[in-house]
Parts: sequence; structure tokens; C-alpha cells
Amino acid sequence: MSEPRGPAPSVGQPMSRVDGPLKVTGAARYAAETQLPNIAYAVMVTSTIPNGRVRRMDTSAAERAPGVLAVITPENAPKLPGAPRPHSAQQPPQQQQQQQGGQPQGGASSQSGQGGPGARPAPPQRVPTLMQHDRVHYNGQPIGVVVADTFEHAMEAARLVRVTYAAEPAQLDMATGPRAPGSAVHPTGNEPKRTTRGDVERGLAEAAARVDHTYTTPLENHNPMEPHNTVASWDGDRLTLYDSTQGIFSIRSTVARIFGIPLENVRVLSHFTGGGFGSKGGPWSHVMLSAMAARRVGRPVKLVLTRRQMFGPVGGRPRTVQRVTLGAAADGALTAVRHTSVSTTSTLEDWLEPSAMATRILYQTPNLETDHDLVRLNVGSPTFMRAPGEATGLFALESALDELAVALKMDPVALRLKNHADRDPHSGKPFSSKSLRECYTLGAERFGWPRRTPEPRSMADGDWLVGWGMATATYPARRSPAAAVARILPDGRAWVRAGSQEIGCGTYTAMTQVAADALGLPPERVRFELGDTDMPQNPPSVGSMTAASTGSAVHEAAVAARQKLVQMALADRASPLFGASESDVRAADGRLSLASDASRGETFAALIARNGGQPVEAQVQSRPGPEQQQYSMHSFGAVFTEVRVHRELGQVRVPRVVGAWGVGRVLNAKTARSQMISGVVWGIGQALLEETHVDPRLGRYVNADLAEYHVPVNADVGTIDVSFVEEDDPYVSAIGAKGVGEIGITGVAASIANAVYHATGKRVRDLPITLDKLL
Ligand code: MOS
Repeated sequence: MSEPRGPAPSVGQPMSRVDGPLKVTGAARYAAETQLPNIAYAVMVTSTIPNGRVRRMDTSAAERAPGVLAVITPENAPKLPGAPRPHSAQQPPQQQQQQQGGQPQGGASSQSGQGGPGARPAPPQRVPTLMQHDRVHYNGQPIGVVVADTFEHAMEAARLVRVTYAAEPAQLDMATGPRAPGSAVHPTGNEPKRTTRGDVERGLAEAAARVDHTYTTPLENHNPMEPHNTVASWDGDRLTLYDSTQGIFSIRSTVARIFGIPLENVRVLSHFTGGGFGSKGGPWSHVMLSAMAARRVGRPVKLVLTRRQMFGPVGGRPRTVQRVTLGAAADGALTAVRHTSVSTTSTLEDWLEPSAMATRILYQTPNLETDHDLVRLNVGSPTFMRAPGEATGLFALESALDELAVALKMDPVALRLKNHADRDPHSGKPFSSKSLRECYTLGAERFGWPRRTPEPRSMADGDWLVGWGMATATYPARRSPAAAVARILPDGRAWVRAGSQEIGCGTYTAMTQVAADALGLPPERVRFELGDTDMPQNPPSVGSMTAASTGSAVHEAAVAARQKLVQMALADRASPLFGASESDVRAADGRLSLASDASRGETFAALIARNGGQPVEAQVQSRPGPEQQQYSMHSFGAVFTEVRVHRELGQVRVPRVVGAWGVGRVLNAKTARSQMISGVVWGIGQALLEETHVDPRLGRYVNADLAEYHVPVNADVGTIDVSFVEEDDPYVSAIGAKGVGEIGITGVAASIANAVYHATGKRVRDLPITLDKLL
């Protein structure tokens, strides 16, 4: 942080992905593409009832099928010493939080040091189902594993397993399912589930206008293009896992704990992950099951989930029912805000969707209540998904704000400006940086918002009703401890390593740029590597915190290596820099020189050659400092949307979205823009398309494929106009980056819903906004 920021030739540039050629040529190796000799193939057998017990699994036909090596069931599965037990057997939340506080999600062994004030701590312990018992918690739960010499043989044999159950009544109705009171540990920090400020009832009584509505969001599944998969290989009691994951160290710690083996006996590799969106933040059943299967057959084993198995066993966004009550004075000033959210969880874990968290910090109001509750159902466990909390919560809050603007006959942007929070109203702390006002102004201008006529149905175009809506976006700026090692090579190139992940965001590229600038090298001469637990430990790629966390470590390691070079030069009588003042030395383009006299200098390579010819290396552990306690750190933005709704048929089209966001320093203008576009596309999916249907009697995931679970395709996406408001935030991370990604989805669904209201006069409070709701 104390490092003066010199000229930064690479950071911020729209550099193309360094891994682009690997990806377009197919040379990028994803976990399931790992080639190991003698590899066998595992397929999961899943339950077909939502609740009860496995009475018997008849595996005789499967075992006789061609190529079958093993059929593992609850009856013959090995007992795993550290297998977690379902929620009913878990410790009370208080105790659990103390033990796990500050750890990455999914990580729950003695491995610590991943947390930090701004980090996202662990949710309650992930409870994968590992055939340790005969209990069935949901329809689709892994209850068996078939291993064969080919994938096709394994698939065929899995079909031959006959299961009889002792079925029990299932809880599948959110309206009547049991509450899980007091047992939820908040997944986004040490924040209470419930907060109160002032007196909401009094604030409502004083209000000139009130709105009070319930908003609902459906079960969603992440559906990254690449299904979850693991290749497991044992060498004695040492295990290597090639995994499609957002967190190699989370995988390592959980697997070591569950199998009861030392941490150092587990190595996890992941060089490319084909999307995760939260569903690959920690280990689900298949990771341990692949290791179990590999041990059973004495061969490496590859386990790839089918698309159908992506619904249930690997998390999803839970349903939410949210009630938002707002009161405002005639001038728009909020006199009261109440936001309560109920979300669904499984009978395995208590995972809470933190929908009302953003409401605590977003607007100024003297009277505020937020609360969260859980309903426990026989469904797969929910988890983090695409801005968990903010994406669902801002749909409710920002829709309600729009309804309030209508009630007050006030412009929606003016209403939000009126209630702008200059300080964090929850903690009372100043924001480390905030450019939300500028985002409203810039977004409105680029969109043409002043040309909007406020009356619903007032902007039609032939058969299409045109609607313009907007909403606020926000997401926390998180940072976790991270480590990196940088090595400057004798030939004047360098590499930097950090055990992070590339989940498609551009981490390889942005980290190359950060390292290049800090080293004083052009990015072509820097190689950044990630994805191996033999590298310095990094947090999972979750919570949009990789840029700030891993980026800070990469920067600091590179600076430390460069400083070693500088010291070498200052002490070397043969160097043109001998005896110079350290503060006068600059590094650029692989050369050290004096700021005061650029002609006095030499290349890294020449300096190293004269000084033994050995690489110069530095390793650092980077941690957030006291500024994390002193400032409230969040990104903000404003999203403006145009929709067209067909008068007769009710289809909704989104021809354009304009967003302006303040996200600290943008490390790469191209990949950051791509992330915002993708975030908006997620928002279009959330608003209009995505919904997982669960059969109300059998708990079966009904639309468990990409033909029936709709995600936006190109035809669903119009123009997305991305702007960043530049922020120079000296507190948020060593490189000034807050992180991008998840903020892109926040506010989008409300912006679309508000535009649909403006187009049609119909307020849809239940996502997704399908045409049946508009007819
Ligand atoms: Mo994200 S939902 O933190 O992977």
C-alpha cells in the first residue's frame, strides 16, 4: 500500500486474454481432459425419492455388466472418518462460527488464515452426501457410484442398479415447510440475521406514502457450461485431484479432513474451470466420491456429472419470499424501511440467502428493520449463486423503490438521489470510496433517461410497448489474505505464481498485468501461473474478491522481487546505479534506471548476470490491514433498461441495458467490461428466464437440462453499454481494485421489472417475468 504508484503501462489496458489462444485451440486443459494411464470412469447413481431410506440396492446386474470394476453403495462404502453429518447433528451456530470464522467456504479443517474483515467467511459446514448412511434427503441425491473401464460401461451399469426405498413424507412446500429458527449462520459475515434501527412503525406512521409488497424469486441452478468433474488419483496415501473448482485450497482442506489424511498428502490442481458462479466454491459429494472410487478400484478415476445431476447435488439459489415495506415523506425521504426474507434450505445444511443485507447499507433512513429466516425442505442444499443476497434482495428492494416513486409521482433516479447514503448507515463508517451519484448521472445520460415519459404505456412503438426502468446496483468489496511468489529470471523474464483459480473471469490476464507493472516488465515477458495447491495459498474465486486478494499478493510479491534487484544494483560497484538513492530508481521494460537521469541504468539481465546469474525471488503473504475496520467497502452502480413488451403476446425483449459502475481500479478494461456484460446477462436470465421447477409430490427436478432450464442466449441479449466511473480508492486493496463480476447482476432484475411496469402498467413481483404473468 505504501508503494508509490509509478507509471502503469499495463494495468487498465484492454489487453486480450493471455490464455485466449489456448482456449480457442482447445489446448487449455480442463479437469476432465486430464489424461492418466489406466484411468477408470465413475458415474453417480442418484435417489428417486425426496425423503426416506434406501432399503436395498440390488447391484447384481450392474456388477455383471461389461467392464464394471466396482459398485459402491451405502452398504459397502468405506466409512470416512471426517464425513460431516446433517444439520440435526451439527453444533449450534455460535460455536460453529467461532471455529470456522474467517475460513473460505467449504474449507473447514485446521487450515486457517483465509479470512479477514472484508472476506466472506464460511457458511455452515457443507454437508456432502457420501454414502455413509442410508438416509435420502432429496430426490437426486448421490446414493451409489458405479466404476467401469469406460464411461459408457459405467453409464450402462448405473442404469441396472435397482433401488428399493422406505419412503417417508417429504417437505416440498415452502408455505408449510418447517422453519429452521435460530440455526442459520449468516454466510456473508459475522452479521446478525436481524437488525433494527430506530422505530419502523413510527416511521411508517409519519410517512406521506407507503408501499408494502411481497416479492418472490424462484429456485435457480447455476448451470456453468462445464459440469462439475473430478479426476482422482492415489499414490499410496497421497491423493491428487484434478478438479473443476473455484477453490483448490477449499477442496484440499475438506478432502483431507473427510478422509482423515494430512493436508500435505492432498494436492489439488485446476488450471481452467468452465464457469462456476458459486456452485464450484467448495467440494460437493462427487469430489470425495471420485477419491473413494479411485481407492476402491486401485486406479485413477474420472467422475463427470451429467447435466441432470447439476440440479440438486451441486447447489442452487434458494427460493426467496421477501416482504418490503417502505415509508417516505412527500419529498421522497425514506422515513422507514423494513425488509424481511425467507429462503429455502435443505435438510442437510442451513444455508441462508442473505437477501436483506444490502438494504442495510444502501439508503439513508432513520428507521430500518431487516430479518432473515429459513424453511427446510427436501431439496438439494442451496449455496452461493451470482451475488447471493444482493441479486435476490435488490430485486425486491429496488422494485419497491420504483413502486414508491410511482406513489410519490417522483422520478426514480431523483428518489434514489434523495436517499443517497453519504456514509454507511449500518456501521456509521465512511465508505472507502463511493461514486454512486456519478453512476446515476453517467448512466442516465448515456441511456437518455431525461426523455422518459413517466406514465405507463406512454412510450409504445407499434405492437410493442416500450418501458424504461432503472435500479441501483451494489456489492461488497471483499478482500482475503493471499500469498504469491515472484521470480525474476536471469534472461530478464519473470514468472509469478499464486494458488488461485481461472474460472473464466480473466485472472491469468489481469494478474499478468499487475505483475508486469510491479516488476517493471512488459506483460509478454511475464508468465502468471495458478491452480495448484503446491503454490502459495489463495482464497477461493468467490465473492468477486480475486482481483483485490490475489491481485494484492501478486503486486506485493512482484514489488518485493523488484526491490531485491534494486538493492543488488545499489550495492554493486559495477552498476551504473551504484550508490544512487533507492527512491530515485525506476523499473520499466526490464531495465532499472534513475528517474532523474534515465540514461543511467541497466537491464535486469545484465545486473543479474554480473551478480551470480541466479534468479531473484520473493514470496509474500498479503493481508488486509486496519483500514478494513475503518472503512465500509462496497461497489455501487446504476442500471438502466429498455424493454419491449408485445401488446398481444406478452413477450419481453431487452434491446438495451446501460450500466455505470464504480469498482475501484479497473485492471483490464476488456475483461472487466466482459464481466459486466456477463453479469447483466445473468440478470436478464434471473429476470426473464431462469427457474428450476421441483415436482411438488416427488421432489424431482422437472426441467433439469438446458433445453428446459432457460439461460439467455445471444437472441435474448441486446446492446449492453458498460461504463466505469474511475475511483482512486487507497484503502480497498494494494492495487486499488474492488473487484468486478457479481455487481454486474445486482439491480438488473429490478431494472427490467421496473421497465416492464413502465411499459405495461403491470407490476410483476414474482420472478421470472414470463409472458403468462403479463397477459
Ligand atoms: Mo460467487 S456466488 O461468490 O462464486
